[in-house]
Amino acid sequence: MELWGLDLSTRQIENATKFLSDNHYKANLFNAPMEQNPGIPENYFDIVYSIYAIGWTVDIQTTFHLISSYLKKDGIFIFSWDHPFMHCVEANKNTLLFSGSYFEEKPFTFKKNVNPPANGNHLDLDKENGVSLTLYHRRLSDYINALAKAGFAVERVVEETDRKILDSECEFSSRYYSACKAKYFPQSIVFKAQKL
Ligand SMILES: C[S@@+](CC[C@H](N)C(=O)[O-])C[C@H]1O[C@@H](n2cnc3c(N)ncnc32)[C@H](O)[C@@H]1O
Repeated sequence: MELWGLDLSTRQIENATKFLSDNHYKANLFNAPMEQNPGIPENYFDIVYSIYAIGWTVDIQTTFHLISSYLKKDGIFIFSWDHPFMHCVEANKNTLLFSGSYFEEKPFTFKKNVNPPANGNHLDLDKENGVSLTLYHRRLSDYINALAKAGFAVERVVEETDRKILDSECEFSSRYYSACKAKYFPQSIVFKAQKL
């Protein structure tokens, strides 16, 4: 089995290199943006997967075209990201509000903790110490249509909250990720697509 990967962050590449070598894996890792091919072979891979990174792309169509080019025919692409509702629905005590438009096309900028707190909620905003980051609003259809245009057939989309949270009594929290939001809509979304 061969393992290849990329990340824009030098620190992430260093961490991954150490983790993989500590566990006796060899990998070809590139410190590069996903919107360019840094030297990854084409028509070569059975599976491409991305955990919580695709939403950062500044050009989803180019990124999906590149991923498609790396895969063999019938190869599988799996990725996860925040559910599109996460950018426009807010929890306010016991009420969920559409606080922004699902159709918003302009990117939004916010401040994010560079050193995540112990609770792991690194998307909780840190207006004083955070670094500025920009994200694009994307609808469910934006992902599906970009996949189709890049030559993929969507095989499965997962929008779920686990049973334990659905059955729990949740306490109100204004956190970005919270159980009381998750009881009403999925916080993440996972796509599985096949290259045609
Ligand atoms: C939430 S982290 C997930 C990382 C990894 N998948 C994991 O589970 O630990 C998102 C990653 O996307 C990377 N990233 C953001 N924009 C990128 C881009 N345009 N090209 C490549 N990587 C990018 C960040 O550096 C970060 O490491």
